[in-house]
Amino acid sequence: MALLSVLAAVLLTSGVFAASRPYNGYLEKQFPQTFYDSYNVLKHTGGIGPYSDRVGYGIDPNPPAGCAVDQVIMLMRHGERYPDATTAAGIKAALGKVYGAGISSWQGDLAFLDDWTSYLADPGLLEQETFSGPYSGLLHAFRRGSEYRARYGHLWNGESIVPIFAGGYERVVETARYFGQGFFGYNYSTNAALNIISENYTQGADSLTPTCLPDTGLLACFYTTRTFPQFEVAAQRFNSQNPGLNLNSSDIVSLMSTATFELQARPHSPWINAFTLDEWVAFGYVQSLSYYYCSGPGDHYQVAVGQVFANASLALFEAGPEHLSMSWNFAHDAYITPVLAALGLDVPSSPLPNNTIPFPNPYNAADMVPMGGHLVLERLTCNATAMSSAGTFVRAVINEAVVPWPKCQSGPGFSCPFSNFTAIVNAAPSFVETCEVAKRGFPQYLDFWWNYNTTTKLNFQNGPISYQEKYTLV
Ligand SMILES: *[C@@H]1O[C@H](CO)[C@@H](O)[C@H](O)[C@H]1NC(C)=O
Ligand SMILES: *[C@@H]1O[C@H](CO)[C@@H](O)[C@H](O)[C@H]1NC(C)=O
Ligand SMILES: *[C@@H]1O[C@H](CO)[C@@H](O)[C@H](O)[C@H]1NC(C)=O
Ligand SMILES: *[C@@H]1O[C@H](CO)[C@@H](O)[C@H](O)[C@H]1NC(C)=O
Ligand SMILES: *[C@@H]1O[C@H](CO)[C@@H](O)[C@H](O)[C@H]1NC(C)=O
Ligand SMILES: *[C@@H]1O[C@H](CO)[C@@H](O)[C@H](O)[C@H]1NC(C)=O
Ligand SMILES: *[C@@H]1O[C@H](CO)[C@@H](O)[C@H](O)[C@H]1NC(C)=O
Ligand SMILES: *[C@@H]1O[C@H](CO)[C@@H](O)[C@H](O)[C@H]1NC(C)=O
Repeated sequence: MALLSVLAAVLLTSGVFAASRPYNGYLEKQFPQTFYDSYNVLKHTGGIGPYSDRVGYGIDPNPPAGCAVDQVIMLMRHGERYPDATTAAGIKAALGKVYGAGISSWQGDLAFLDDWTSYLADPGLLEQETFSGPYSGLLHAFRRGSEYRARYGHLWNGESIVPIFAGGYERVVETARYFGQGFFGYNYSTNAALNIISENYTQGADSLTPTCLPDTGLLACFYTTRTFPQFEVAAQRFNSQNPGLNLNSSDIVSLMSTATFELQARPHSPWINAFTLDEWVAFGYVQSLSYYYCSGPGDHYQVAVGQVFANASLALFEAGPEHLSMSWNFAHDAYITPVLAALGLDVPSSPLPNNTIPFPNPYNAADMVPMGGHLVLERLTCNATAMSSAGTFVRAVINEAVVPWPKCQSGPGFSCPFSNFTAIVNAAPSFVETCEVAKRGFPQYLDFWWNYNTTTKLNFQNGPISYQEKYTLV
C-alpha cells in the first residue's frame, strides 16, 4: 500500500497524469530554465549518429512580428539508417577480432558483451533506413513531415499537386516518401508527386548531388583515416581489462561506429558508455575534419558544388510563391555541407587544425548533418515596423535552429534583406565554371524545380528494396 502511494506520488509529480492535474502556476514556467544537453553524446557523433536539434541562439522559429513565411525551400539528408557496406565491413572485422580473442567472461568497460548481440544480422538492410526504435529513420522522416505541415501547411492551397524531389538513392527516396506522408496525410497519394532525380554525374547542375569532376582529391580525402591518441588510449584500456584482447586504434574507430549505428536501430547501445567523453570528442572531430576538408569550406570545388542549390534557391525566391511555394528536397550529407559553405553559413574564421582538437569545435558536423539533418530557407514577407521597412527577407533554419548570417542580420528577427542575400549567393564560386560543366556538355543549371512531373506513380515503393551495390556518385 505504502509502495503504491509512493508510486502514485511519483507519477503525479512526473507529469504522467498531467492531463487530469489542475494547472499549477507555481511549477509551470513560460520558459524552461534548464537545458538537458550539457552532456549529450549525439553532439560528438558527427555525421553518423542519430539526429539532434542544433543548439540555437534563442531566436523564435516562428516568423518575426509583422512577417509571414511565403516560400520555403528544404534540403534534407536521409534519416537514420543501417551502416553502408564499407562501414559494416569495418564493424564486422572489429567485432570478429573482439570475439576471436576467445574471452569467456568480459571485464571492465566491455562487461556488457556477455549479453550483447549484433544488430547487423540481415545484410539486406545495409544502407537502408532503420524502422525500429525511437531513433528510427522512417519515423523521423514522417514526424518531420507532420511537424512541417503544422508550420508550413498554409503554403499549400489544399488542391494543387506539390512536387517532392529526391536524389535517386533508395534511402533518400524512402525518406522523401515518409516525409510526404507526414506532410500530406490523407492527401499524399493524390497531391504529392515524387520526382526522382538521378544522382549520375552526367546530370551536371541539374541535380541534388552535383559532381565536380576536376576535384580529383575527393575520394582519397573521404577515406583518409585521421587518428588521435584518444583511440589508442581506449584500445589499451580494453586490452588491459581483458587480457588476450589485442585491439588497436582503427578497431576502436570501428567499434565507436558500432555504437552510433546501433543507436539508430535500437533505443540503447551499451557500446556508447564503453568510451569516454574525450574519446567521443575525438571521434566527432575526425568526422568534422572530413566534412570541412572534403565537402565543406576547406575544398573550393565543393563550395562550387553547393553553389548550384544556393543559386537555384535565389532564383526560386525571385520567382516567388506563384511559381512554387514549397520546395522539398532530399539528398545526402555531403551535398548539404557544400550548400552551407556556398551560403557563407558555418564557415570558421580559420581552417580546422588537423593535429589538435579545438574545443568547442567551430565546425561541428553533428550540428549540420546528423542523420536527417536539414537546411531550411524561408522567404519572409514583412510589413514595415519601427525597426525596419517593409520588404522581403531570408532566414536560414538549420536543424530547427534559426542561424543568422554573420554579416547579414539587419532584417526582422535577425533575417537577411533579400538584396543582401542575392549578393551573398552571387559571391559563391560558379559550379559551371569551377567544375568545367559546359566543356563536358552537361546541364548547366538546376531545371527540375521549373519542369517537374505531377505524376504520383513513384510515390510508393514498388518491388523489393534492393541492396545498393554501388554509390552512384562515380
Ligand atoms: C501586413 O499588413 C497587412 C495590412 O495591415 C495585414 O493584412 C497583414 O496581416 C500583415 N502581415 C503580417 C504578416 O502581419
Ligand atoms: C484531402 O483529404 C481529405 C480527407 O480524405 C479529403 O476530404 C480532401 O478532399 C482531400 N483533398 C484533395 C485535394 O484531394
Ligand atoms: C519526368 O518524367 C519523365 C518521363 O518519365 C522523365 O524523363 C523526367 O526525367 C522526369 N522529370 C523529373 C524532374 O523527374
Ligand atoms: C551515368 O550516365 C551515363 C550516360 O547516360 C551512363 O553511361 C552511365 O552508365 C551512368 N552511370 C550510372 C552509375 O548509372
Ligand atoms: C589494426 O589491426 C588491423 C587488423 O586486425 C589492421 O588491419 C589495422 O591496420 C590495424 N591498425 C593500426 C592503426 O595498426
Ligand atoms: C543561377 O540560376 C539561374 C536560374 O536557374 C540560371 O539561369 C543561372 O545561369 C544560374 N547562375 C549561375 C551563376 O549558376
Ligand atoms: C594538416 O595540416 C597541414 C597544415 O595545415 C597540412 O600541410 C597537411 O597537409 C594536413 N594534413 C592532412 C592529412 O590533411
Ligand atoms: C545590403 O545591401 C545594401 C544595398 O542593397 C547595402 O547598402 C548594404 O551595405 C548591404 N549590407 C550588407 C551587410 O551587405
